[in-house]
Amino acid sequence: MRWIEMGIEIAGFKTIGVIGGGQMGAGIAQVCATHGLQTVLVDVSDNQLQKAKSGIEASLEKLAGKNVIDSASRERALKALSFKNDMQALAGCDLIVEAITENERVKVEVFQKIDKITPATTIFASNTSSIPITRLAAATSRPGQFIGMHFMNPVPLMKLVEIIPGMTTSEETTRRILDLAHALGKETSRSADYPGFVVNRILMPMINEAFNALMEGVASAEDIDKGMKLGTNQPMGPLTLADFIGLDTCLAIMRVLHEGLGDPRYRPSPLLVKHVEAGWLGRKSKRGVYSY
Ligand code: CAA
Ligand code: NAD
Repeated sequence: MRWIEMGIEIAGFKTIGVIGGGQMGAGIAQVCATHGLQTVLVDVSDNQLQKAKSGIEASLEKLAGKNVIDSASRERALKALSFKNDMQALAGCDLIVEAITENERVKVEVFQKIDKITPATTIFASNTSSIPITRLAAATSRPGQFIGMHFMNPVPLMKLVEIIPGMTTSEETTRRILDLAHALGKETSRSADYPGFVVNRILMPMINEAFNALMEGVASAEDIDKGMKLGTNQPMGPLTLADFIGLDTCLAIMRVLHEGLGDPRYRPSPLLVKHVEAGWLGRKSKRGVYSY
């Protein structure tokens, strides 16, 4: 890491673009900016951008209050961040991390748009939870400079970033992204590009099974969560965690596992499907398995 005239440079990256100002994009932008990188957060929704800005301010305040970050880092982050509703703002970025809705068609559209407005040297990373990196990369003109950079929620607190090189990702891209993740204070684990990678391949079937247990009346939501939280020492029970992640995201991941692995054991729970159809997406919509 070295200071240069306009700010900091890490692993050759000076300016970072993050697309999608939901819970993940806001967290990724916050962590990049806290480490001094010039960061622009882009979303199609002004309302989401406003929510992201106030969420980041509140999170920085909390972390500074607990001495997790010092007040200089907090000030630096606020100065390094900008919020835009126009993709053109990404034109000068060295790295773009995509964190929009878990939908392959929409992600491809966005990557093809930014492919046209950024130099060939810009690296693209996707924070997708499950969509094949190789397929997303193939939709761009730079498959060697495309990688999965899977942050965990909540990004400012969670240690891990899963790194997923696709079939075509260059070693140089992988090395720079590993270096960046470490400089951001994260631990990394590397996964090959198979559906759900490692974390969601194992986590989502557990969450899905919790919905099946609820649907079959095995136990109440509270007892399922209590059993798993206290019985297996997890910080949150699986249904609370599903609400925290977003039920639309959980369902999208189960569909990728089901289709990508072709095994009926990954069939999305009908109760999870019904929640999403009802618009009960979890905390972000104020109602999921629980009400908020
Ligand atoms: N920034 C700053 N502070 C934050 C924060 C944020 N973004 N989010 C929570 N906090 C703070 C809370 O405000 C709280 O502060 P106080 O103690 O001052 O009140 C503190 O962190 C602890 O939070 P809580 O008391 O609410 O709850 P907790 O002790 O359970 O910790 C948690 C919260 C870290 C989220 C913990 O519950 C946890 O680790 N949960 C599991 C998270 C997890 O599994 N994440 C991975 C999901 S899977 C994924 O991300 C991949 C995917 O593709 C789906
Ligand atoms: P979210 O629903 O909170 O936010 C998605 C954001 O994307 C919204 O602000 C929306 O306005 C924006 N968006 C949608 N289409 C867009 C477009 N075409 N251009 C610009 N912005 C657009 O979702 P999230 O939970 O932040 O998840 C984002 C991504 O991160 C998904 O791929 C998800 O699978 C992945 N992820 C989620 C979690 C989690 O726990 N929620 C964890 C790791 C990875």
